Amino acid sequence: MGGGLAGRIGAALALCVLVGCGSTEQAGYDPNTRFLLRTDPIVVKVPPAPPTDLHANGKLDDAIADLANRGGVLLEPSKLPKTDRDALERTLEGLFGTPAAPKRPGVPPDKLALGSGVYKAKCAQCHGMTGDGRGPTGSWVYPHPRDFRLAKFKYVSSTGGGLPTRDDLVAMVKVGIAGNSMPGFAMLPPDQLEAVVEYMLFLSLRGRVETDLLTAVLSEDGIDGSTEEFATVALARWTRLMEEAEAKVVRPDVPEVSVRDAGTDAAYDAGVRRGFESFTKAGCASCHKDYGRETHYLYDDWGVAVRPANLSAGVYRAGGGPLDLFRRIRCGIPPSGMPAVDAKVLDDAATWDLVRFLQALPVPRHLPEDVRAKIYP
Ligand code: HEC
Ligand code: HEC
Repeated sequence: MGGGLAGRIGAALALCVLVGCGSTEQAGYDPNTRFLLRTDPIVVKVPPAPPTDLHANGKLDDAIADLANRGGVLLEPSKLPKTDRDALERTLEGLFGTPAAPKRPGVPPDKLALGSGVYKAKCAQCHGMTGDGRGPTGSWVYPHPRDFRLAKFKYVSSTGGGLPTRDDLVAMVKVGIAGNSMPGFAMLPPDQLEAVVEYMLFLSLRGRVETDLLTAVLSEDGIDGSTEEFATVALARWTRLMEEAEAKVVRPDVPEVSVRDAGTDAAYDAGVRRGFESFTKAGCASCHKDYGRETHYLYDDWGVAVRPANLSAGVYRAGGGPLDLFRRIRCGIPPSGMPAVDAKVLDDAATWDLVRFLQALPVPRHLPEDVRAKIYP
């Protein structure tokens, strides 16, 4: 009996070591660990013709390198002489610190350090130490974990061109992403959740400044003045843009009219019908061909092939609630090229109608007969 109990406790402890048991008491990064300068190519321009397929499993970096053969433009940080690379690494370390002792103006160092420990334990596996999306698991899952180094996110609630708000990131990390490998972390205590979001913003800013710095050094013009000055100015600029994104959150003035409380059947049908017309007029069908049932691909800003969502499936990465879809229409998915639809094009009432159409689309019996006949002949 006693041996069995001990064995079970042992097994439970081993499991805790493996999965963390919700605690992040694990050691954070070693104080000697440093961020190394990026070596993977910077995608300056994706090829003019859209991708014909997804790349093979595990071949993310080969697929990026291949963009250059298809008319894309890449910069190669790995080709910089070692002395230049060392100097840039020192510049970035001076500004941003190390993984164990990260620095970001305006954020208490202990909060960032807590976030760094949580990130190492829960996120680095996929998103990578520098936030490059190339953790050990990264290239094996599709879609790939977000590469934070562009400081752009896909599922945002503001019209800041893909810059995230804290609330967006907190919600995303809590809930995870439906239909792919991004887990939800609702079990993290609130202080750890907030800290890991601060750390993610830190990695985004650090990665963005690194990318801007390398882009300038590798381009013909080079940098005027010192790399420290350049990096400090870039950091201030991206910090300001992120603050502005917080002020550009889309909040509808007209309240939500959901599928269920649309009033009479005739009023509901009329709304869905108007939404259906907006879908065509607003250009959604140019990418979501046959409502997304037709498979084709586009490049996102990272140079990775993405597929316009199959909107008849009713599975959404950033939630299928009315406000989620309202914001998807008004904010777009900037890094995937899905444009934001301005309120001048579709006002709040028209946007709610489009939401209503999107919500009815996967359920044929929710569509008025004439619309249903066009979509599900
Ligand atoms: C098992 C792999 C995995 C782990 C672990 C993981 N992620 Fe992700 N994450 C993903 C994938 C895959 C995506 C991209 C999904 C997509 O593009 O639809 C993603 C996307 C994201 C996004 C981007 C959302 C956007 O709008 O662009 C955020 C933010 C994020 N993860 C944060 C985290 C944080 C913080 C942690 C740790 C607490 C974490 N992830 C752990 C796989 C993972
Ligand atoms: C330029 C191409 C393009 C246009 C135009 C476009 N989309 Fe998209 N859409 C995409 C792509 C690509 C994705 C998938 C993004 C990814 O995987 O990175 C997507 C995804 C979506 C999603 C899924 C969001 C989620 O949470 O998973 C919805 C909903 C959507 N689009 C609605 C619309 C609507 C409504 C319109 C018209 C107002 C529209 N799209 C116009 C390209 C487009």
